[in-house]
Amino acid sequence: MKKKIAIIGATSGIGRALTVEMHKRGFIVGATGRRIERLQELEQQLQTHIHTQFMDVVELDDAIDQLDQLKKDMGGLDIIVVNAGVSNYQKESVGRQADLHVINVNVRGFANLASYSFNLFEEQGHGQIVGISSVAGLFGWGLNIPYNASKSFMNTYLQGYRQKANHSDADISVSTIMPGFVESEMTEGKRDLFWVQETEKAAKQIADAIERKKHEAYITKRWRLVGWFVKLIPNWMWNRM
Ligand SMILES: NC(=O)c1ccc[n+]([C@@H]2O[C@H](COP(=O)([O-])OP(=O)(O)OC[C@H]3O[C@@H](n4cnc5c(N)ncnc54)[C@H](OP(=O)(O)O)[C@@H]3O)[C@@H](O)[C@H]2O)c1
Repeated sequence: MKKKIAIIGATSGIGRALTVEMHKRGFIVGATGRRIERLQELEQQLQTHIHTQFMDVVELDDAIDQLDQLKKDMGGLDIIVVNAGVSNYQKESVGRQADLHVINVNVRGFANLASYSFNLFEEQGHGQIVGISSVAGLFGWGLNIPYNASKSFMNTYLQGYRQKANHSDADISVSTIMPGFVESEMTEGKRDLFWVQETEKAAKQIADAIERKKHEAYITKRWRLVGWFVKLIPNWMWNRM
């Protein structure tokens, strides 16, 4: 039986490349996003074993209905990847509204789908939730405040659900994926980035982590070094930067 995977936010960057990669690996893929023409392009490119569904993750109730519809179209779901996300780094819009937008997508949109997915998998007895978080979730950063905080929320939220899964009768795994910089619309034209990884290579490593049901994975692997390093920096030093 082919496994069925839904990728939320599959119209560009990491989500799109991951959709193509999982399809190549023999999965039946479900792709969502707001840009319908991009979803149609994916359908044309992959031809078979691809289902698409419009979804704006900030419309919380609609997003759940749309995930249900996708599951129905696909005849079930084994893996749900919550990848949709936005960042404010080096964007002109800063301040309260800009912060709230990031929080609406990356925190509320994410938690809405992740918690629903957990309940769904408990009911059906198995499943895997994958959150595309970020190395940014390991520290607060004055140049992208809501983004880093939102990814920190994701990390802790998923860790909690991972623990909850241990006490469930269902076979549920929860994976937190932490990319460093990856080529995508999010990083396009941005200055001062380093170790920027090609999207396809990042997608391959994410796909490996999903198939191995890893609890946590840095993408690419050398970002683990950054993870270790930032955890060593004491709070008083962060506060003075
Ligand atoms: N690129 C990096 O360096 C990097 C590093 C660490 C983590 N990440 C994370 O990786 C994930 C993917 O980012 P990316 O770099 O691939 O950026 P991207 O190319 O901008 O892709 C973002 C995806 O999220 C979707 N999305 C945004 N707002 C949405 C909304 N309101 N409702 C539904 N979908 C929405 C977009 O689809 P539509 O616009 O069609 O809705 C798109 O498919 C994000 O969670 C990001 O935080 C990226």
